[in-house]
Amino acid sequence: MSKKVLAIYYTQSGQMGEIIDSLTQPIIDAGYLVEKVAIKMVNSYNFPWKGSTFFSVMPDCVLSVPAEIQPFTLKESKYDLIIIGYQPWFLSPSIPSNSLINHPDLVKVLAGTPVVTISAARNMWLNAFERFRKSIQNTSAKLVGNIALVDRHLNPISFITIFYWMLTGKKERYLNIFPKPGIDEQEIIDVAKFGRTITGHMELNYWDSLQDAFMNQNAVNINYPLMFIEGKAKIIFAVWAKIIAKRKNKAPWIAAFKYYLFVALFVGAPILLILDMIFIKPFFGQRIEAKKNYYLQLN
Ligand SMILES: Cc1cc2nc3c(=O)[nH]c(=O)nc-3n(C[C@H](O)[C@H](O)[C@H](O)COP(=O)(O)O)c2cc1C
Repeated sequence: MSKKVLAIYYTQSGQMGEIIDSLTQPIIDAGYLVEKVAIKMVNSYNFPWKGSTFFSVMPDCVLSVPAEIQPFTLKESKYDLIIIGYQPWFLSPSIPSNSLINHPDLVKVLAGTPVVTISAARNMWLNAFERFRKSIQNTSAKLVGNIALVDRHLNPISFITIFYWMLTGKKERYLNIFPKPGIDEQEIIDVAKFGRTITGHMELNYWDSLQDAFMNQNAVNINYPLMFIEGKAKIIFAVWAKIIAKRKNKAPWIAAFKYYLFVALFVGAPILLILDMIFIKPFFGQRIEAKKNYYLQLN
């Protein structure tokens, strides 16, 4: 009997759908049965976003508040491999991804099953992965591989272009000056190479070397300045989220968070990075390497 793979994911723009298609094509070509499921939310976050709604989801993302998913059907009660496609929102698993990983129907099929996660972020995915990995570990599934795709342009540039994309729905060059937002088109096509690596491991039913094979293919890369900024930002986001969640009238607080974010990125982050470069980084090389390794590995 042919081995069965479930590829389940959420996407707003369709980007994660394209990535899943690219990843699973070699698995299909190798003769395995691949079931693709794109989940939908009951209250969809209308895409393209409005400026006001975009920031308003921050507290629920950071505080892991789940939302209702439209009923979905899985054809099988057991799979040989489950691939989960997700994306970070506000340095956390997106609300749909967090809702999915805790959904009883998925939790049921995850039991005892090898899992590969694939994320497509702007460029800050570490904290979302850490939390998503924990959610998977809380089920009895076994995380065997992780792929983290990012927009490779400079942080301030992708910060501008992602807003253009998210607020207009157009994955195009803003003003014809900025680069295209999101994951590079060629990189999405090249995701097929990870699918081929998965296929090799499926044949042998041996998963222990998958993450090393992925790492040799640059499936995960850690950029130190971004890791540093994200490490600080996640603590501050948690404080904002708790403050905003307690307010009856959230709108002014969300607006304040929005302005904070712009100032933090364009003013605070460069200053912190310079201070870190002088006073911390030169003296804590080993600790930094250990931290990078923590995000590269699966547990
Ligand atoms: C509300 C919101 C918050 C986001 N926050 C982050 C983030 O913290 N880090 C990051 O790298 N990307 C972030 N992104 C980009 C997403 O991870 C993702 O790349 C983009 O939304 C496209 O995903 P899609 O397949 O759902 O269209 C955010 C996107 C949205 C809509």
